[in-house]
Formats: sequence, C-alpha cells, structure tokens
Amino acid sequence: MALIGIEKLVFGVEDLDLCKKFWRDYGMAVIEETPDHGLYATTSNAKVEVRKFGDPALPAAVVEGSTARETIWAATDQASVDALAEDLAKDRELRVDDDGTIHTTDPEGYGIGFRVTERVELADPGTKYNAPGREDRINELATFYDGATPRHLAHVVFLVADNEGTAKFYQDRLGFRLTDAYTDRGKFLRCDGAIDHHNIFLMHVPGQMGFHHCAFELRDIHEVFGGGLRMNELGWKTHLGPGRHNVTSAYYWYFRNPSGGAAEYGFDTDRLDDAWEARMIEPTDGAFAEWSLEDGFGRFAGLQRGVKPADAA
Ligand SMILES: [Fe+2]
Repeated sequence: MALIGIEKLVFGVEDLDLCKKFWRDYGMAVIEETPDHGLYATTSNAKVEVRKFGDPALPAAVVEGSTARETIWAATDQASVDALAEDLAKDRELRVDDDGTIHTTDPEGYGIGFRVTERVELADPGTKYNAPGREDRINELATFYDGATPRHLAHVVFLVADNEGTAKFYQDRLGFRLTDAYTDRGKFLRCDGAIDHHNIFLMHVPGQMGFHHCAFELRDIHEVFGGGLRMNELGWKTHLGPGRHNVTSAYYWYFRNPSGGAAEYGFDTDRLDDAWEARMIEPTDGAFAEWSLEDGFGRFAGLQRGVKPADAA
C-alpha cells in the first residue's frame, strides 16, 4: 500500500462566492466554478473543492459552520485503494464513487477518502540563489512575485479528542508514519509513500474539535513574501505570520480562510523518510516558531515613520 499525500480537500461553506474568491486570490488554478461548487488545483494537481455547507454531496460535519468536511488521500494504484477498502469495510460504512474513490470516516468522525492519484510530478522550480561560495546568478536579477501559485498541498490539521487512538488508526490502518509529536498535544504523521515532514497533524486541545488549517508549499521564500503581500493587499486577514517554524524548519504565512480555519503558505519544509526517528517535543512557543509576526505586514511596513516609498528610493 502506498499513499503519497493529499489528493483533494473538500470544504462545506456558508458563503460560497466569498470562498471561490479566496481560492482564486490565493493563487489556485480554477478547474471549474458552477453555482454549486468551485474546484481549484495546485501546480501538482492536488485539489481544493468548496460546496455550500448544506450540500447533500458532502459528508456529515463534525462542527458547525464553514469547515473542511473530507480529506481525500492520494494512492499510487487501484490495488492500494482496494486493499484499504477491504480492511476499512470491516468496521465502518464505506461508499464507493463511479470513479473508484472510496469514502468513509476516521475515528473522530472526519470524512476521509482514497483514490488513485491524478497528481503530477513537479519539476525543479529552478530558483537561483547567490551566496558567498555559491554564485548562481551573474548578471541576472532575482524573482519578484506578484502573488503565489500554490505548488503542493502538503498537510492538513484537525483537532481531535483522542490523540493516541486516532494516530493509531492512521498508523495501523492507513500505513501512516509518526514523524514527531508534541507531548500530550499532537502527532505529526506522514503517508507511507511521502517524504513530507507531515501530511496530517492531529492536534489535541481539550474541548476543541474541527479543522484547523491546510498548508501549501511554494517555489521559494520570495514567493512566500510575494504571495503574502498580495493577499494582504486584496484584504485577506493574516491568521499568523510571516514566521518560521522550529519543528519542520519551514517559513510560513497563514491567512484566515473563509472556507474554514486557515490556509498556510510555506517553504523549505524538512523532508523525511523511514530513517528518521520521531522526536517528542515540549509544545512551547519556542518549539512552534523560531520567530513570528502576529498579524502580517504590508508592502511598505518598514517605512511607517512618515516616509513615503517614493522618498526612500
Ligand atoms: Fe501547518
């Protein structure tokens, strides 16, 4: 069995038009927009779908309001999907689509599904960096981004009641690997066929449930800032960032997502394989981030002492 990551994330939302605009502004490619739904894709062809929250096509919601209703996991082949279906049918209801996608729920009640992937391999984005001893760009300017183009839908985060039990389900039944853990607070897990630091983070906060955020990786650090600045200019509110995680090493900038939770731009996340040994980490602020802004910034935030950008040239 090999799962390679997230194939599609499906949201049930209160304001469908606003959510369609969010995903377009976020930089996703528009696959289809109808009065009933919007379907968007990353460069790797992982998808985000938004539907009205009362749409009968959606799995049941664990929490009220706009939220992620289903995570479809990407399998390398139909035999892997069939093996999962056979095992999962032993103790839970299964629904099968015409295209072979199977749907069920995890132990927390969150919708999960599995299908043969339609994702595509990504080529080297080719960013060139200059550093003393490594001069990649001679007589060549660096890239400035007007906005981000999400490349890879890397992970999802859900609040869970039973951290241990639910992590065990993902590990024992779906083949996920534990990559790191926060003491009493959360489990980072990656698919068996992925080298992402994590594809799902199960976060335990007593009394809280629901979808927390989804993360999209970009081409380089310049795109994190260019994309964040663009979202800021379009009026979308920062949830947290920019900043840099300690666990995963990644740069981040999270935006409040009208579809539910937050959407994270990220770059330079650690990659792991089966040689990695999971760490148990105390969940302090210092573990979460090396540094972080709380509320983003605009294009000329460093020029706030009455200096107009034109004056500073
Ligand atoms: Fe994240």
